[in-house]
Amino acid sequence: MSFGYRSGALCAEEVPLEDIARRFGTPCYVYSRAAIEGAYSEFVRALGERPSLVCYSVKANSSLAVIALLARRGAGFDIVSGGELARVIAAGGDPRKTLFSGVGKTESEILFALEKGIACINLESEAELERVDALAGTLKRRAPVAFRVNPDIDARTHPYISTGLRESKFGVAHADAERLYRRAAAMAHVEVVGIGCHIGSQLARAAPFAEAAGRIAALADRLAGAGMPLKHLDIGGGMGIRYHDEVPEPIGGFLEAALGVLAGRKEALIVDPGRSIVGNAGVLLSRVEYVKHGAARNFVVVDAAMNDLLRPALYGAWHEVVPVRQAGNGAEQSVYDVVGPVCESGDFLARDRSLAARPGDLLAMMSAGAYGMVMSSNYNTRPRAAEVMVSGSEARLVRRRETVEALLALEELPPW
Ligand code: LLP
Repeated sequence: MSFGYRSGALCAEEVPLEDIARRFGTPCYVYSRAAIEGAYSEFVRALGERPSLVCYSVKANSSLAVIALLARRGAGFDIVSGGELARVIAAGGDPRKTLFSGVGKTESEILFALEKGIACINLESEAELERVDALAGTLKRRAPVAFRVNPDIDARTHPYISTGLRESKFGVAHADAERLYRRAAAMAHVEVVGIGCHIGSQLARAAPFAEAAGRIAALADRLAGAGMPLKHLDIGGGMGIRYHDEVPEPIGGFLEAALGVLAGRKEALIVDPGRSIVGNAGVLLSRVEYVKHGAARNFVVVDAAMNDLLRPALYGAWHEVVPVRQAGNGAEQSVYDVVGPVCESGDFLARDRSLAARPGDLLAMMSAGAYGMVMSSNYNTRPRAAEVMVSGSEARLVRRRETVEALLALEELPPW
């Protein structure tokens, strides 16, 4: 069990969140090692004996501790910046098992990745192909590349996180792919190794995912027929998790559907999940500062805010809010908006929740392990939260709470 009540106290594995709040303060992100490793193992199990690699998408949660857990279990990584590659290396991950995605890779990022022996650069435009060929030439190397092809499939998810449609900024058009591959194959300093796609995030059903895998496999067949056989097919991430009352396809279901479509193929299979590995492995722990009964709405003001967990403000995302002490604080149950201290009306963590809250109580925002800490900011000069990882009965601080002094340290007063 990763998060659940024991004798009325919400625990991360065997550690009461009350103890974590006492030791490390709030707001605080708390991750369960067992949940992260368990989700990763589900992928590995579902892929079975097939030559395959799970490349964890670092953007979902780039904590060195999270990367290290997965690297030690043999994971590869999907990164979108030189900074993320530096994290993978610092945490003991292998660049030779790492894919570099993203529409705007800079020259220095590409050089850094090539020098570190990146497994594959996922190209997202013809201009990027030219840039990578030229830079690899300066290193007298051949850069391993794939194109991220836009399969033009509606992932049927939130528009901000749907990425596989024709109008999306990501990837190259399906119709252009063959011409681009021919061009790449003729270049001196790139080596075409694979093909990639990613249709969107928080997918509920396996059908669009498998359909996209089928489309890129068909393209791989055409490329092989034209003398360009590929070593891998990267069918993306995007497997959804349960935040509220969704019942997403389980990880095994997504992979079974894709493996069905890809049966009998020789290429290695790569998946790059983020959310489904860490999303339900983390909570944001916060303390109630004030309870405010207003004319039209009631508010629970907590010490976490939109700068700590942006998803509700940005996407209207739903995170379950639960009391850390199960019952009996003596407060009346009321319907509240759970808000932070940031000066924005959009600063809410949850709306219309039935809670019995008193100042000093601890609340946990659930399913905050993915796109939580990584999207946090210092808005309102709020130092970012501490991060704690739990393994069994042990809780370890894996990132210290930022200090205001550290926030000011990069700045200088002008002389005039
Ligand atoms: N691979 C590629 C190429 C991606 O663009 C993404 C996510 C992933 C893998 C991982 O997707 P996942 O398995 O985590 O769904 N901030 C948003 C999500 C943005 C996802 C961007 N791309 C959120 O909080 O929901």
